Amino acid sequence: MNRQTSDRLLVRLGVVGTALTLGGCAWDGPMTTLVPRSDFARDILHVYGIITWASVVIAVVVFGALAWVLLRFREKPGTPLPAQIHGHTLLEIGWTIAPALVLLVIAVPTIQVIFRTQAAPVAQALDVTVLGRQWWWEFRYPSLGVVTANELHLPAGRPVVLTLEGADVIHSFWVPQLGGKRDVIPGRVNRLTLIPDTPGEYWGQCAEFCGASHANMGMRVFVETPEAFERWLAAQRATPAEPPSGLAAEGKAIYTRSACVGCHTIRGVSAGVLGPDLTTFGGRTTIASGLLPNTLDTVTAWIRDPGAIKPGAKMPALGLTEAQARAVATYLAGLR
Ligand code: CUA
Repeated sequence: MNRQTSDRLLVRLGVVGTALTLGGCAWDGPMTTLVPRSDFARDILHVYGIITWASVVIAVVVFGALAWVLLRFREKPGTPLPAQIHGHTLLEIGWTIAPALVLLVIAVPTIQVIFRTQAAPVAQALDVTVLGRQWWWEFRYPSLGVVTANELHLPAGRPVVLTLEGADVIHSFWVPQLGGKRDVIPGRVNRLTLIPDTPGEYWGQCAEFCGASHANMGMRVFVETPEAFERWLAAQRATPAEPPSGLAAEGKAIYTRSACVGCHTIRGVSAGVLGPDLTTFGGRTTIASGLLPNTLDTVTAWIRDPGAIKPGAKMPALGLTEAQARAVATYLAGLR
């Protein structure tokens, strides 16, 4: 390959690479940090803005100086070596103080935001305990007596205090439009205080590598009007309605005589604590930590072989037939 061909190839590869990289960018995707929906996310975006503009100014100064030096001191035939300087007190003091100033400009607002989100909770705040587990999220509302998994419901406009507790390895709670990342560490309690302000569905993701299905450890946060939140709450606390019938009754029978009961809680039916609480499973929009929509097909496939959907999943394949798995899925879909 001659020089010209290889140059042209490089340029083309560069263009394709840039197009592919920029193609992944979106201002308002579900994981955007640029459209904040809580006071905390807004504070972080503010710090982010300061750092971005500081970086822009530094880049302009540095690349400007570099370009000027490259052009001004270009080697021309016959020019003598320019004066060589070793040690220049004023310059050295200057480039020690300038970065220190830059760090100060970044550090002051950053530290302010860190302390603000760690502040003691206000009296009317909603308490939620968040447990990071391999590879799903448990949400407990200790003052309301509700436990759920992977889908967190919050009322808009009310301060919420998330108490982050690790159950196995280190995870990190991150819902870009609401707040985080904050590590979820076994043996240590971290806290996150925020006020979600706009009803909507927000995506979250574990942001600390935690094993085989780290990438599959997502979550959804539903911020609701206070009335909608109360309705959700009432549904969570309601005692189960009539016992299931037909295929769902068959599914319940299979559930109660299988290993399911050892790991899962369904209030009034089983009391396992290793897996997600399934008491109101049918009311969730997704399964497997936000990985798939909650439908009979996906739940049946999950029950048949969880590891095929979520590598490393702690739930074993139970050896149920397709028909049995579908019956269990039908039973679970009815739990709302
Ligand atoms: Cu949990 Cu990564």
